[in-house]
Amino acid sequence: SERTFVMVKPDGVQRGLVGRIVQRFEEKGLKIAAGKFMHISPELAQKHYEEHQEKPFFNDLVGFITSGPVFAVVLEGQDAIHISRLLIGKTDPKEAPAGTIRGDYGHVKEKNVIHGSDSLESADREIGLFFKPEEVLEYERSIDAWL
Ligand code: GTP
Ligand code: MG
Repeated sequence: SERTFVMVKPDGVQRGLVGRIVQRFEEKGLKIAAGKFMHISPELAQKHYEEHQEKPFFNDLVGFITSGPVFAVVLEGQDAIHISRLLIGKTDPKEAPAGTIRGDYGHVKEKNVIHGSDSLESADREIGLFFKPEEVLEYERSIDAWL
């Protein structure tokens, strides 16, 4: 199985969507391996979004993600990265179909409610940025045999 990193962004927290968003991943069968409610520092935000360093919206991105608490989660399961991105939907909520998290809850791409890692490499990197190894838990669920 595979691990991915997802994060309810400050707009999702402010709008009271944390529970509903986490529920979607649980319902899909993904296992929660770690979770943390936290305020991201500017330093962590810059590292997290370093691939966008040269984009004109980089400062806005860092400003937004540090504007309030986020709920960071590690999810585990077969193809967890791909499945999470499917549940999340396209970056711009206008292009995300109903039934996806951004399609159902997002309005504009600057405030699209949730982040999800887009590759194995970024998942490993982001999990390492947000969690200590001992905060990512290994445990069995009896349901895993049915998933
Ligand atoms: P993440 O899961 O958040 O990484 O989104 P993504 O992988 O679907 O998109 P991408 O990594 O390309 O962009 C990162 C984030 O930048 C997006 O989630 C948007 O919130 C934000 N973003 C994208 N385009 C713009 C823009 O034009 N202006 C601003 N302010 N933010 C943008
Ligand atoms: Mg991305």
